[in-house]
Amino acid sequence: MAVHIGEVRQNTPAAIDIKGLSKEYTTARGTVKAMAPMDLPIKAGEFICVVGTSGCGKSTLLRLVAGFEKATTGSIAVDTEEVLGPSPSRGVVFQDYGLFPWLTVRENVAWGPKQAHLKTSLVKERCDKYISAVGLELFADRYPHELSGGMQQRVSIARVLANEPSVMLMDEPFGALDALTRRGMQEQLSRLHRDIKTTVIFITHSIEEAVLLADRVVVMTGGAAKNVPGHIREIVTIDLPENRDVNSEHFNDLERSISRLVNTEEDDSSHGVDADAFAEVQTGETNAEDEHKPVAVPRV
Ligand SMILES: Nc1ncnc2c1ncn2[C@@H]1O[C@H](COP(=O)(O)OP(=O)(O)OP(=O)(O)O)[C@@H](O)[C@H]1O
Ligand SMILES: [Mg+2]
Repeated sequence: MAVHIGEVRQNTPAAIDIKGLSKEYTTARGTVKAMAPMDLPIKAGEFICVVGTSGCGKSTLLRLVAGFEKATTGSIAVDTEEVLGPSPSRGVVFQDYGLFPWLTVRENVAWGPKQAHLKTSLVKERCDKYISAVGLELFADRYPHELSGGMQQRVSIARVLANEPSVMLMDEPFGALDALTRRGMQEQLSRLHRDIKTTVIFITHSIEEAVLLADRVVVMTGGAAKNVPGHIREIVTIDLPENRDVNSEHFNDLERSISRLVNTEEDDSSHGVDADAFAEVQTGETNAEDEHKPVAVPRV
């Protein structure tokens, strides 16, 4: 996909320090231990991909960093500031584009800066800059329903960038795109990240996508189906050059070893987490979004 990357201002990326972070959800049917306590220090400007089987706590981790959920234990610091709730400095991009259908592309992108009461001239400047950064200058006055899925996803990225966040949190943002559009978006995001230098946490089910984009890949495992709270199994450093060749031997080696970590059992399944405590997890749906997910069978 020919995509023009505009000139963009350098943001100040933030370091993220996750310490002893865990999450239990309380539901009508009992407690779901979604995530065992984890530590994860992330450097300013780093691109972190998180992979792992369904239900291992990837979105939970992201929602905690976004400030949408409260941690059960532990803390998250973005630079020196503790996360106590959502903030425009932590932009979130979901799989469903979350655009306002009644607003044009330009109005969608302007929404955040307007909420922040920026001067009209600055709002315009940011809109121009980020609409052009995602190559949508010609579509600025269209409505979301007039755009393809890939274009809508680009608008949702521009909308987050317009707040000039120091952290970008992305939950399977390209999951719904066809392979070709997805590859175009990956290349574009990679270039944008190099230009803008935001710290990124990016969740994906595609190991190839993770190896293509990340500085480090966090492999999570566990979850209700395995009767162990979600936790980090391993963190793999991607020591590949900026322009990555998906067909290179080293790329394929990394992809294979991450795939093995995702798809095989851990030697020590307790891995520092209390599997017995997890056995008290109740069965049953937790919310509509999770209906498709496997649930734990309580031990008797
Ligand atoms: N709001 C909630 N209330 C109760 N339990 C929840 C809630 N959200 C998630 N869970 C449970 O927490 C666990 C982790 O869920 P999470 O959505 O973080 O997994 P995930 O790794 O993102 O999975 P997927 O790859 O399917 O998106 C699951 O067992 C899930 O059922
Ligand atoms: Mg998820």
